[in-house]
Amino acid sequence: MQRTFVMIKPDGVQRGLVGRIITRLEERGLKMVAAKFLWVSQELAELHYAIHKNQPFYNNLIKYITSSPVLAMVWEGPEAVAAVRQTMGATRPREAAPGSVRHDFGLDVGRNLTHASDSVENAEAEIRLWFKPEEIVSWQRDIDRWTFEM
Ligand code: RTP
Ligand code: MG
Repeated sequence: MQRTFVMIKPDGVQRGLVGRIITRLEERGLKMVAAKFLWVSQELAELHYAIHKNQPFYNNLIKYITSSPVLAMVWEGPEAVAAVRQTMGATRPREAAPGSVRHDFGLDVGRNLTHASDSVENAEAEIRLWFKPEEIVSWQRDIDRWTFEM
């Protein structure tokens, strides 16, 4: 099964949307395999968003992501990378599909609630950056035979 890195950003935590965002992933059939609540350091923020270093929004993005605690997670499922991106919706909430987290809970690209890895390679790198191997929990969920055709 594929794994992807997901983060509920400071606005999601501050607005009390952690439970509702997790519920959407759970209800879809994705499985949580790691989670940690933390205040992101400047160093971790810069490593995580290194790809955006030259973007005009970079400084604000680093400020945003280090402004308050976040919930970092790893979720597992069939094609989890694409599935989670779809559940979160387009980067700009006003362009996100109705029913997606960013559409249903947001309006502004600088307060778009969540992060999710955008490729399998980036998912692997982000999971390595945020979690030690022993923090990832492999477990069986008994209901899975009713969610996945095995
Ligand atoms: P993320 O990495 O956070 O999951 O978001 P994403 O893939 O949908 O979007 P990405 O292009 O990777 O941008 C990362 C984050 O930077 C902020 N952003 N601001 N002001 C702007 O034009 C702008 N563009 C991007 C957003 O918080 C976005 O999620
Ligand atoms: Mg991205």
